[in-house]
Amino acid sequence: MADAKQAVELLQKDIAQEHQATVQYLIHAWLIPSISDEIEGIAREEMRHWEWLSMAVVALGGQPTLARDPLVIEPESAEVLLTADAEAERLAIDSYEADMEQVESPDLQHLFRRIQADERVHRGLFLAMLDEVRHSETVVRPADPAPDAEQLNRVVADEYRAVLAYLYQAFCFPEDEVRHFLIERAVEEMKHLAWAGEHVVALGGRPDFTLPQLPQWQDGIAMLRWDLEHERSADAFYGEIIAALRNEQARSEMERARSQERFHIYEF
Ligand SMILES: [Fe+2]
Ligand SMILES: [Fe+2]
Ligand SMILES: [Fe+2]
Ligand SMILES: [Fe+2]
Repeated sequence: MADAKQAVELLQKDIAQEHQATVQYLIHAWLIPSISDEIEGIAREEMRHWEWLSMAVVALGGQPTLARDPLVIEPESAEVLLTADAEAERLAIDSYEADMEQVESPDLQHLFRRIQADERVHRGLFLAMLDEVRHSETVVRPADPAPDAEQLNRVVADEYRAVLAYLYQAFCFPEDEVRHFLIERAVEEMKHLAWAGEHVVALGGRPDFTLPQLPQWQDGIAMLRWDLEHERSADAFYGEIIAALRNEQARSEMERARSQERFHIYEF
């Protein structure tokens, strides 16, 4: 049976896997437009798992990891992608089963069982989608990316950094109110990321999900200062992107993101 330190190790391993699932499914959703809503719905649930596991690490006195297991995103066919997703769910089901055998805490048992139940549903959904696309070629092929794709990929990278920063920071604040505020902002930046990423893929590019380096903040004030500075630069950054974009729809979505960043400045 695991002590607190071992329990944190188990949780960190699960966090890296939920982080992978969130990003991988998001990309797969953009690659297979015919079922993108269904896959995005699952990605959102993985992000919730990621959040719950991180809260459990904090409750045990640890710092949640920002590590991520390797992504499967080579778009050979919709079938290959969805097979990888169904397999990822099977591994997750097994790994939560093993976790449950290793911990005594009823809270952790309950958490693992709750997440495992979701993973079982996800696996069933992916298998059903696999049946749906098995004989049709629905994946978006990589092409010579349009210049717009390069601009929008800068948005993907920048928003991904913001998502990770706000999630990480959220778990460092003991006050529920600040934590909740930061998680909500992370969800909003994730939305901006998705608006840009979907266009990157549709324009023949591949979204840039390189793991960013985050600063080592000394305290909560340093975090919030960084956030305010980040929001200010995001406003200017979007101005530059919008001026360079040719695609009408992408431009109007980036304008919407920019107006939300302006509101974030005010909130922070
Ligand atoms: Fe999950
Ligand atoms: Fe899942
Ligand atoms: Fe944003
Ligand atoms: Fe923002």
